[in-house]
Amino acid sequence: MKIFIAGVDGYLGWTLAQYLAKRGHEVAGADNYMRRDWVAEMGSQSATPIRRMTERIEAFRETFGRNLRFFRGDLTNAAFVDEVFRTFRPDAIVHLGENPSAPYSMIDVHHAIFVHRNNLFGTLNILFCMRDICPQAHLVKLGTMGEYGTPNVDIPEGFFTIEYRGRTDTLPFPRQAGSWYHQTKVHDSNNVMMACRLWKLRSTDIMQGVVFGTRIDEMGDDERLLTRFDFDQCFGTAINRYCAQAVVGLPLTPYGKGHQRRGFLPLRDSMQCLTLAVENPPQAGEYRVFNQFEEVYDLTEVALKVQKIGKEVGLNVEVRNVENPRMEMEEHYYRPDHQHLPDLGYQPTHEMEKELRLTLSDLIRYRSRIQARLEALTPDIRWDGSRKPVEYLVGVDRGAGYNA
Ligand SMILES: NC(=O)c1ccc[n+]([C@@H]2O[C@H](COP(=O)([O-])OP(=O)(O)OC[C@H]3O[C@@H](n4cnc5c(N)ncnc54)[C@H](O)[C@@H]3O)[C@@H](O)[C@H]2O)c1
Repeated sequence: MKIFIAGVDGYLGWTLAQYLAKRGHEVAGADNYMRRDWVAEMGSQSATPIRRMTERIEAFRETFGRNLRFFRGDLTNAAFVDEVFRTFRPDAIVHLGENPSAPYSMIDVHHAIFVHRNNLFGTLNILFCMRDICPQAHLVKLGTMGEYGTPNVDIPEGFFTIEYRGRTDTLPFPRQAGSWYHQTKVHDSNNVMMACRLWKLRSTDIMQGVVFGTRIDEMGDDERLLTRFDFDQCFGTAINRYCAQAVVGLPLTPYGKGHQRRGFLPLRDSMQCLTLAVENPPQAGEYRVFNQFEEVYDLTEVALKVQKIGKEVGLNVEVRNVENPRMEMEEHYYRPDHQHLPDLGYQPTHEMEKELRLTLSDLIRYRSRIQARLEALTPDIRWDGSRKPVEYLVGVDRGAGYNA
């Protein structure tokens, strides 16, 4: 299959390019290296040393004898997307090329508008180019479980059937985003759904949980093939940030009471799921939604797991709650469905602790790169618009079974 990855220089993108190419697919990707600039803007850097795309592709060819094509450019530029699609003629497009950060979008109006413009315009360009150049192609679009928010009822996979005044219909389940970034994903979902309805495009909208880990087996041991791993307040996911904190001897810092529940999955499972979606396309005109995660944990449970594995690998790890810079529920009901991917053959690895062991030993190797950017580990972007470093909370009762 000819697969185009939008956002191929990113955490998931570079990993997926290698994974799909090793499965025998013809892979091309585009990126404008913006994620590298955003992380620098946060005063941080990837904990893993990462190479430019040209070097990465060369290393991949040397090691695995397979080619990857790279187009450098901005997805918000319609002419660029048009040219790439006409040149490569993809059968499938995996769209990862957006700004993925809630805190970044909450900094101020300029960042909120930038994230909207970047994410919405890029997706619109892809939809129009699909209509005009490759209407049979399948769009695998990355959304997030955060689109749903935390309603007090079970969360279906995208749609639910409702009966009202004697009539029934299947409608999109309500989305309740909690940041301007998440809101861009909600808008994207609506736009993609409409393009499928009007233009008979086909798409899988992936509501992805929090991804963690440094590697997949397909990368082998060549350092030049590593993907990025961020730990700053904007671009590090909670669990990846905990791992970075553990290796530099800082306390792990759940926000507020720390009982926010989220779906998690390791990087290797994210690759497995995205591949299943790509290789099993929907019908023309079909818009389907996959909730993509392995297991639900609360943020304190995850911190305690990192602490446990940290101790096993010789780290002295403390867990200390900090003020919550976000506006979100800290204790809530959370039961999302996730049956579509297992129905296609997804086999969860169910090994968060094993994955954490690998991640921590990778990060211990690159400890000095985290130490060089320690300030980036303290959040100061608050949902109310102020900019003040969070303070430790004292006397947080985490509840039965949580106090380590
Ligand atoms: N990593 C996670 O835990 C997670 C969870 C849920 C959803 N997602 C979604 O998955 C996707 C990929 O996530 P990631 O962690 O790999 O993020 P990432 O930032 O590492 O990757 C995105 C890539 O897209 C590129 N990009 C962004 N805007 C672009 C533009 N206008 N033109 C060209 N390139 C552009 C960036 O430079 C970056 O390399 C994102 O859409 C994100 O919202 C990620």
